[in-house]
Amino acid sequence: MKRAGWITALACAAICVGCGQQSDSPDAPSLPPESSLPEGSSTEMVPDAAPVDDMPAPVAEPAAVVEPEAVPLEPMPTKVVLGDPSLTRGIPGEGELTTAQIQNWLKTPGINEPLEFDLPFGLSLAKGNVTGVEENSLTRAKIELGRQLYFDKRLSADNTISCASCHSPESGYAAHTQFGVGIKGQEGGRNSPVAYNRILSGAQFWDGRAASLEEQAVGPIANPIEMGNTHEAAVKTVAGIAGYQLQFAAVFGPDSINIDNIGKAIATFERAIVTGPAPYDYYAVLEPFLTQFSEEELNDLKDDDPDVYARYVSLKADADAHPMSESAIRGKALFFSEKSNCTTCHAGANFTDEKYHNLGVGMAAEEPDLGRFVVSQKDEDKGAFKTPTIRNVALTAPYMHDGSQKTLAEVVEWYAKGGHPNEHLSPKIKKLELSDQDKADLVAFMEACTGEFPKVETGRLP
Ligand code: HEC
Ligand code: HEC
Repeated sequence: MKRAGWITALACAAICVGCGQQSDSPDAPSLPPESSLPEGSSTEMVPDAAPVDDMPAPVAEPAAVVEPEAVPLEPMPTKVVLGDPSLTRGIPGEGELTTAQIQNWLKTPGINEPLEFDLPFGLSLAKGNVTGVEENSLTRAKIELGRQLYFDKRLSADNTISCASCHSPESGYAAHTQFGVGIKGQEGGRNSPVAYNRILSGAQFWDGRAASLEEQAVGPIANPIEMGNTHEAAVKTVAGIAGYQLQFAAVFGPDSINIDNIGKAIATFERAIVTGPAPYDYYAVLEPFLTQFSEEELNDLKDDDPDVYARYVSLKADADAHPMSESAIRGKALFFSEKSNCTTCHAGANFTDEKYHNLGVGMAAEEPDLGRFVVSQKDEDKGAFKTPTIRNVALTAPYMHDGSQKTLAEVVEWYAKGGHPNEHLSPKIKKLELSDQDKADLVAFMEACTGEFPKVETGRLP
């Protein structure tokens, strides 16, 4: 299985900070305390998704119908690698999500326990940058509640727009339009950034004006050109849906349907959307073997150090299964070099320093978007925007905060010419001496940063 492969590679590479630290905790979760069970979750509930549904209803003698017992669900593990499909596949069952299925789900042991998690191989190197989970614990039940809210168009004023309208899994959790398109076809002035790997990101938006993912998540609901609703109306809508009532009570306690908890649930779902290893990751852990040993030395390892040799063979097999082209390999070296300077800003496992820089994008306009300046009021932040991730960037054209660049090749040209000159251009942006081959290699490298996405149920709403 793929996922087992990630973990093996991770263990083998032995470069992951913190990946071993949880290995001795017990696998079997304990039962949640009675108080964490949903209200009204006693035995009178009746699941309607049991196969019994397919049988003709015994109309004549309704009294004789034996109500099926709720199938006690298997405890769900609280130790998990984020990206695991069990976190985002929705409440078990097929077709329309029923209240009985929700009630049954909420009785599953383990789903209200804070998860002990690792990040998928690749991103795992950034484990130390995980943010927000102390304040807002990551639990299976909260991830699922957030998933439903994320895909629920009823949060918008006219039931047409959900978070996924501009951050769809099918479009790499972004949108292929230049600007976000909200209710009644209205356009904003900025491009939709990606909603994955947010667990590694503190301040949100291109200008970082939301201090947390929680704060960010409630913004679009009341933004007149995005979801066009009010928080009061959205809360009222959610509170009027039985399935949400049950889940909020189970996750946040009684009378807990409010805008803050809606934000907390959505943020939790987003933190569970982490992207898996890309060809780059498989290559990066193999590369030391290729650069530090000659072919002959590798062969000798077979006898001299069978363990190390076995590790090499396993990493090689993973890399061969997710190949980087020669061009991408050259592009990687260039991307990480001083010559291109890319990793000064696109640094770390998620390829971003989470800081703000002026590349000159949009600065030729008469009244340019001043970006971070509006938040910080610092002169040097004029026209500065948050560094976006390079992971899966090939999936999310167009590019830049104003969606002004259509392809990765165009972006590379922008850097080659040294951005657009303006008073506040970052000193890290300089004209680059890049050949056509260099440029193509950088694009190939960025394409090789495309990894697996978690499997996410987009329907099954209450
Ligand atoms: C109409 C399109 C639209 C809708 C609907 C929408 N967004 Fe966004 N989203 C955007 C745009 C555009 C930005 C960038 C705005 C900015 O930086 O000023 C953004 C920014 C974000 C960011 C910040 C990412 C980063 O790198 O800082 C997150 C996270 C996000 N949205 C999640 C959500 C969630 C959750 C919802 C639903 C509650 C949602 N969005 C609804 C278009 C949309
Ligand atoms: C000074 C910091 C800095 C350096 C150096 C830098 N970037 Fe960026 N990068 C950014 C910022 C900030 C943005 C967003 C700018 C904006 O929208 O105004 C960005 C945007 C991008 C985008 C578009 C991503 C998206 O989702 O829209 C790509 C691709 C990219 N950079 C690749 C590169 C490459 C390749 C290099 C090296 C040649 C590089 N960057 C060097 C900071 C930097």
